[in-house]
Amino acid sequence: MSADILLQTHGLNAWYGAAQILFDVGLEVGRGEVVALMGRNGAGKSTTLKAIMGMMPRRSGQIRFLGQDISQAQAHQVARQGLGFVPEDRRIFTDLTVLENLSVGRQGSRQFPDGSAAPFWTHEKLFQLFPNLGELQHRPGGRMSGGEQQMLTVARTLMGNPLVVLLDEPSEGVAPVIVEQMADMIMALKREGVSILLSEQNLHFAQWVSDRAYVLEKGQIRHQASMVDLVNDADIQRQYLSV
Ligand SMILES: Nc1ncnc2c1ncn2[C@@H]1O[C@H](COP(=O)(O)OP(=O)(O)OP(=O)(O)O)[C@@H](O)[C@H]1O
Ligand SMILES: [Mg+2]
Repeated sequence: MSADILLQTHGLNAWYGAAQILFDVGLEVGRGEVVALMGRNGAGKSTTLKAIMGMMPRRSGQIRFLGQDISQAQAHQVARQGLGFVPEDRRIFTDLTVLENLSVGRQGSRQFPDGSAAPFWTHEKLFQLFPNLGELQHRPGGRMSGGEQQMLTVARTLMGNPLVVLLDEPSEGVAPVIVEQMADMIMALKREGVSILLSEQNLHFAQWVSDRAYVLEKGQIRHQASMVDLVNDADIQRQYLSV
């Protein structure tokens, strides 16, 4: 495996009860890459992220993170190794302020496999990325809009100094101004060398921020392409993406 591949799955399967949801999913995320996992409602995007993270009741297949096999690891162990996860349901602490929520996410500094330092996030650095959060530092999480909570969830994940972030539908259900900040944030992370695997239904958002895409249908990867090629491929879009 190339040292530049930070996250890789091979033959990944996952089940809810007796129902198999993922079939033989193989994907790779390279250092500094933004990769979109695309597909319609129910295609298996969130399930893929959860399976990587160790949050499915049952899974099989291989998952490697930073060259290590994490296919048996639990979510908290994977998170401690530097794999960040932002789930689709925002999980902030509603009684804690923005600053307190961020402090909960604090983890130590980290290195890439080649020994170079991963970005180290502070409140100040995050508030540059998310100006809205900076203005709401002392507000309880429960008294923020959905979009602001979404940003706080991302920011709290970054406090763990992840090398790779799994982002579940960052643009879904939030106001355009927040979507723009999400895109800026993803680009800023990429500039810092952080890799992102994001699930997305929205081709406009995905094309804005992503280098490559995998297209899922019924829990299988049906297509993979550079974002440029996918944007120009009307057939694939019609088959797997348009509603
Ligand atoms: N908790 C669950 N129990 C049983 N089946 C589930 C559960 N969550 C999801 N599924 C099923 O797994 C399949 C994949 O769902 P998943 O949430 O991964 O899709 P998705 O691509 O993220 O869709 P969306 O765009 O709606 O977020 C769907 O058929 C869904 O009904
Ligand atoms: Mg989903």
